[in-house]
Amino acid sequence: MAGKGSMSTGSSVSDENPVVSFFDEHPINEGEILSKLKDAGKDLDHLAPEDLFPFDQDHYGALEATDALAALLGLNAASKVLDVCSGMGGTSRYLAWKYGCRVVGADLTATRVAGAVNLTAMAGLADRVSYVQADACALELRGESFDAAVGQESFLHIPDKAALLASLHRVLKPGGGLAFTDWIAFPQLSDGERRQLREGIAAQHIAGMEEYRALLNGAGFRVTHGEDLSAQWKVILRERLEMFKSLEAETVRRFGRERHEKYIGAYTFFVDLIDNGRLGGGRFHAVKL
Ligand SMILES: C[S@@+](CC[C@H](N)C(=O)[O-])C[C@H]1O[C@@H](n2cnc3c(N)ncnc32)[C@H](O)[C@@H]1O
Repeated sequence: MAGKGSMSTGSSVSDENPVVSFFDEHPINEGEILSKLKDAGKDLDHLAPEDLFPFDQDHYGALEATDALAALLGLNAASKVLDVCSGMGGTSRYLAWKYGCRVVGADLTATRVAGAVNLTAMAGLADRVSYVQADACALELRGESFDAAVGQESFLHIPDKAALLASLHRVLKPGGGLAFTDWIAFPQLSDGERRQLREGIAAQHIAGMEEYRALLNGAGFRVTHGEDLSAQWKVILRERLEMFKSLEAETVRRFGRERHEKYIGAYTFFVDLIDNGRLGGGRFHAVKL
């Protein structure tokens, strides 16, 4: 089932990159989304974008979480949006479908980009949504070409947040908005726990709320919104852990039992840290000065 969507390849990325390896064997992937669609009785040759939404949103809080970012950004049909770390493309497809935006997704992991291209073509959105395989810290996209940028549960995988924000600042138009959600570290999070999160879930660096504000200010943004989502995430992430457990047969079949057990172990550790108030989530909106 090959789609005809558009993808261009940026810098070459080694398979040894721990983030790429992690996402190459992620329980949510193109094959898993397609098998869920089949199980739901959908005809894969005649998919509507909304058929995918129950299965393709790889962030916390489903479509409502994306609507919250869209509201902060004031998105509409005239908006050109960059979906930073676009993964399987759930966010970009939803924004194009619901708000009529044109969207470019950028993601480091070639298998995620290929999946996003395919799913987007199958959903009939390739005229409005395209993808590039690129490191978000070194985007080769035209400067000042986007009205807005969105990111969901991805920046934790990027160690150099200053480089990321400089890259996003460059491609946004003056006055353009950046809205994102991400994991947030609280002061109790120890170095050992950070190391375990790096090894288990490829969490390269988790910033704190104030750290994010300082980084955004330092990169030439004015922060207009910073919200602690930890209480909501506590509930959502327990449910998500159960969802990943329910994918056992599928994950074991695709990647082996060891991978499934390692993932569930790391995810349980992560969810426990949220329960214990050492880790949480934040939502930000900032405007390019
Ligand atoms: C949790 S997934 C994203 C999910 C997506 N935002 C969604 O809501 O469906 C995180 C993504 O970040 C991407 N990523 C991690 N580091 C990156 C980087 N430096 N540049 C671009 N993408 C990156 C990974 O390849 C992965 O696809």
